[in-house]
Amino acid sequence: MNLVTRDQKHLWHPLTQHKISPEALPIVKAKGSILYAEDGSEYIDGIASWYTAMYGHCNEYITEKVAAQMQNLDQVVFSGFTHEPAVQLSEALIKILPENQQKLFFNDNGSTATEIGIKMALQYHHNQGNNRNVMLAFEEGFHGDTFGAMSVSGLSVYNGAFEEHFIEVLRIPVPLGENNSEVISGLEELISGNNIAGFIYEPLVQGAAAMKMHDAAGLNEILKVCKKNDIVCVADEVMTGFGKTGKYFASDYMETKPDVMCLSKALTAGLLPMGLTTCSQKIYDAFYADDISKGLFHGHTYSANPPACTAAIAGIELLVSEEIQQQIKSVIKSHQAFDEKIKDHPKVTNRRQLGVIYAFDLHIKMERYGNLRNQLFKHFMDNGIFLRPLGNTIYILAPFTVSQMELDKIYNVIDDLLNKI
Ligand SMILES: Cc1ncc(COP(=O)(O)O)c(C=O)c1O
Repeated sequence: MNLVTRDQKHLWHPLTQHKISPEALPIVKAKGSILYAEDGSEYIDGIASWYTAMYGHCNEYITEKVAAQMQNLDQVVFSGFTHEPAVQLSEALIKILPENQQKLFFNDNGSTATEIGIKMALQYHHNQGNNRNVMLAFEEGFHGDTFGAMSVSGLSVYNGAFEEHFIEVLRIPVPLGENNSEVISGLEELISGNNIAGFIYEPLVQGAAAMKMHDAAGLNEILKVCKKNDIVCVADEVMTGFGKTGKYFASDYMETKPDVMCLSKALTAGLLPMGLTTCSQKIYDAFYADDISKGLFHGHTYSANPPACTAAIAGIELLVSEEIQQQIKSVIKSHQAFDEKIKDHPKVTNRRQLGVIYAFDLHIKMERYGNLRNQLFKHFMDNGIFLRPLGNTIYILAPFTVSQMELDKIYNVIDDLLNKI
């Protein structure tokens, strides 16, 4: 039996309706920007495997450190014990996070990072005896697939089976510049009539909504209004974190800092699953009490897994290095040059870029998971490029370490597509 047949026997893949989906492609190796398939074909990973492997796949600097850590301390309960990789990671991260972030809470992935962000916001008020149980979120946001995360996600077309179990959520549109004052007055009205505990948002780029981008000044105003009303601001930087926006965090573009931040994906450089929810001293202090029930009673078995912490430390060391910072600048420039090239193409609309995230929409009508989207995907794969169009949006979010030759190949294949459709 080949790998595909064995896969089909027992495996259930994420985001897949197996009855109508093509078979999964067996990947046997990944190195740098390249994914190697079992049949010998190769693909440039144009989305860094869902924006995780930002320093290239199997980056030796990271894999060697993780391998050494694995020989020394593999796993230990993080309730009642601590260890060097966790402490070192906290010190490395605090140096690059917005300066109001002071405490780190470990979890397993992006969904649990946001789940804890939501719990921190709700319990922050509960602990103070405030009757606040409503979350505020952007329309079309995406925060993950656990119940709290699903509740606050505006993009939940396929969550129908669970909707009656969701927590209460109010939504506001994203600020786009021209609508900022409207968004703010709508927000003030919502705040005055509701018991809002927290505001969760993807800062500046809504990833799953097809890399939709919004206005930093407008977001800053929203955060200011929320802070004035003691609404806990929870920045979901699961996608935007760790250099992708051109700064360490998207929150660095705003003067007003979040109370809580959710991190995952590139946190561990694509090597091991891990999430983190960080918060300010003010949030932490609301849980710090003689009363045990005021604590955050949440814990994952693999909290602060030492090899995962080691991957994260090595990733941060690379992120702050001169070499990676130069590479980020050069990817930004390359995208700008490509954008200049395609900007007048009649099939291209809504071009947008923040840091190494580049996206545009095809000027044609199509469904998010429809047939045409599948044809676009096939065009890219047939030409050795792994890009996942989101409806009619084509976006590139390659590893920072992608070479100019690899980028040019991605651009050429997109160009070729534009001239074909
Ligand atoms: C902004 C954001 N938050 C949360 C998540 C959920 O992360 P995970 O898939 O690791 O649970 C994602 C995943 O794409 C995301 O983009």
